[in-house]
Amino acid sequence: MKEQIILTGDRPTGRLHVGHYVGSLARRVELQDSGDYDKVYIMIADAQALTDNAEHPEKVRQNIMQVALDYLACGLDPEKSTIFVQSAVPELTELTFYYMDLVTVARAERNPTVKAEIKQRGFGASIPMGFFCYPISQAADITAFRATTVPAGEDQMPMLEQCREIVHKFNSIYGETLTEPHILLPANEACRRLPGIDGKAKMSKSLGNCIYLSEEPEDIKTKVMSMFTDPQHLRVEDPGRVEGNPVFLYLEAFCKPEHFTEFLPDYHGLEELEDHYRRGGLGDVKVKRFLERVLQAELAPIRARRKAWEQRPGDVYEILKQGSIQARETAAATLRDVRAAMQIDYFERGSF
Ligand code: TRP
Repeated sequence: MKEQIILTGDRPTGRLHVGHYVGSLARRVELQDSGDYDKVYIMIADAQALTDNAEHPEKVRQNIMQVALDYLACGLDPEKSTIFVQSAVPELTELTFYYMDLVTVARAERNPTVKAEIKQRGFGASIPMGFFCYPISQAADITAFRATTVPAGEDQMPMLEQCREIVHKFNSIYGETLTEPHILLPANEACRRLPGIDGKAKMSKSLGNCIYLSEEPEDIKTKVMSMFTDPQHLRVEDPGRVEGNPVFLYLEAFCKPEHFTEFLPDYHGLEELEDHYRRGGLGDVKVKRFLERVLQAELAPIRARRKAWEQRPGDVYEILKQGSIQARETAAATLRDVRAAMQIDYFERGSF
């Protein structure tokens, strides 16, 4: 059977939050530990982060460490996964340049995630070219490692689609060279789109609606207690809406049967709690208190591991450095194949 290889990553523009955790990080750790994969590559996408942060190099640089700490805190293990920094693998930029020849401007403009981001950032007519092209560079990231599997959130679906198109086009012009990847989405719907605590579509630092993985217990409490719920659910006895209610979406993403046994033994499980809320007679405060305990239980070990790694910045640095050296070797081998397929390996073959 073909080797099973994972590649995924994050832009280092801030600390990672619980949306990242349920949407991707927790799954990565499971996949890493499953033994089903021959290689796991986790990339800190600093070059991609610079595509819309060219004026803020210090922000990107400082967050490399923060993201690495969040990774290690969640249980990514450098013995099992290669954690590396994108800009330390310059082969990726060269691949990107060749792949750009295979994508039309019209196709790049159609990417719905990029469209949404352009709008969100208010770029108007001044979209940086690098930002516009980042899905192409993402295809380079994925194919350089011959990744078969990309665990990521729903927002990455258009990137994977574009990557597969590039692979097809490349292979059909230059011969079978690149590996076609597929996306691995989070298992449950709530994990796919965890909203911010204000109920807004997505958790994002600029909206100030995140709960971070490194959040202190008191802040977790304050944030959960301030969460948006069903605005029609004014009195305890009123019937409430569960659908689209952030508190319930978080419970769907985080709570496990043992949380009920431990913190809310009057209910057998989430369904029973939801039914009660729908009927009326269940107050938001009670549900929020439960969610708070669930989050505290889930985040405590992550925070503790993070604190332990924070004491060892030299070791984290070495992990990223060694990971980047290893990643570079793999990407260089793919680039050699690409150059040969494209017939630009003149000085390797010794003639034109
Ligand atoms: N776009 C991803 C993000 O926004 C980061 C990323 C860069 C990535 N290259 C990738 C994810 C390749 C998966 C595969 O965080």
